[in-house]
Amino acid sequence: MTTTVPASTFETPLKFAYWVPNVSGGLVVSTIEQRTDWQLPYNSRLAQVAENSGFEYALTQTRYAASYGADKQHEASAFSLALLGATERLKVIAAFHPGMWHPGVLAKWLITADHLSGGRAAVNIVSGWLKDEFVKFGLPWLEHDERYVRTEEFISALRGLLTENGYSQDGTYYSIDDFTLSPKPVDVPGRPHPEIFFGGNSTAAQATAGRVADWYFSNGRTLEGYQENVAGVLASAQEAGRAPKFGLNGFVIARDSRKEAEETLREIVAKAHRPAVEGFRQSVQEAGASTKDGKGMWADSSFEDLVQYNDGFKTQLIGTPEEIADRIIEYKKVGVNLLLTCYLHFTEETAAFGRDVMPIVREKEKDLARAQGTELNTDLLPVVPGVSAEEAAAATAETLPEDHPSTVGVSA
Ligand SMILES: Cc1cc2nc3c(=O)[nH]c(=O)nc-3n(C[C@H](O)[C@H](O)[C@H](O)COP(=O)(O)O)c2cc1C
Repeated sequence: MTTTVPASTFETPLKFAYWVPNVSGGLVVSTIEQRTDWQLPYNSRLAQVAENSGFEYALTQTRYAASYGADKQHEASAFSLALLGATERLKVIAAFHPGMWHPGVLAKWLITADHLSGGRAAVNIVSGWLKDEFVKFGLPWLEHDERYVRTEEFISALRGLLTENGYSQDGTYYSIDDFTLSPKPVDVPGRPHPEIFFGGNSTAAQATAGRVADWYFSNGRTLEGYQENVAGVLASAQEAGRAPKFGLNGFVIARDSRKEAEETLREIVAKAHRPAVEGFRQSVQEAGASTKDGKGMWADSSFEDLVQYNDGFKTQLIGTPEEIADRIIEYKKVGVNLLLTCYLHFTEETAAFGRDVMPIVREKEKDLARAQGTELNTDLLPVVPGVSAEEAAAATAETLPEDHPSTVGVSA
């Protein structure tokens, strides 16, 4: 399947994001040693290291129930504010569920967060898969595609309230009557309002994202799978006269040799916490697999894939920096604008990614742009000091709690 990638994709440097490890156990459900922690001291330093290494965004996930390897977790909006306070340039995307939040309350939160951070706040609107979180809170659990009907109304209301005075909307889930929020978000050139990301894989998710999202985030995908997602989003976006941008999740294992990287992957999977992964597999049957066409997130994921619960191994960013850079360019060719990354040892590996992988990607992006008859706009590249291996190791040592490893407490 081929999709038409706009020229602006080749002219614009890729953006890089990382998942905020605001949950215990890191981003893999495995008992392998991880020099990653879920609390604020570690995460504040990580955010500083990331912004000094060339990362433009961090994504804070939302999870309420202690489950599937994430026994403890911090709430996304409060944690994101703390990270915005700890950094200078990083944009922090906090995740929110329609059904748990009202779009007007979220719009108000977002405007305040935007003012507190000088225009660096963003949101990821996620429709949810963990039924128990809703049911046990006494909230309605909508059937899969209906969740996206609600999400679409939610995002329309959110955007309307962020940008308009006297906003009204008459919906099934959210009705707003002539409402004005004041102040409005910070006026950032080129940004009509704080960015609205959207995470989901299924056919319904793609169609909704095309109609209302600024950014479409997919889980880890193979090249072919990712092209299907992009085509689905573009089809509905084109009908709606919109041009959303595209993000993709990937778990990065960059090592000196491919063999070493593959051994690390094997160890992560060999030490998987089986009951937690199996429990997760059962819960996610509420997601894509439950839809009429059976397509969507986790519908075709193996046990190994689910050890990284956002399918990050499927993207195959595993090998030497050069190999990973090549792989990233393949994804840029099919439309990726932003790569959302996760790691085993977050602070050390984000710094290493900035030092070893990003420079190679930039050179390859220049070649790619030329091959497409254009030039990479290097004025848009973040100018950063970089972080040495020693500095990153020291930041980790200072912020890992004494009772680490963070695998402590992984449960089903
Ligand atoms: C990049 C990304 C981030 C997500 N973050 C969260 C999150 O923080 N909390 C959550 O409950 N679901 C999160 N999701 C899951 C989606 O809300 C949705 O449940 C999932 O994509 C399954 O839906 P689908 O079958 O329609 O694809 C995320 C999905 C993606 C792709």
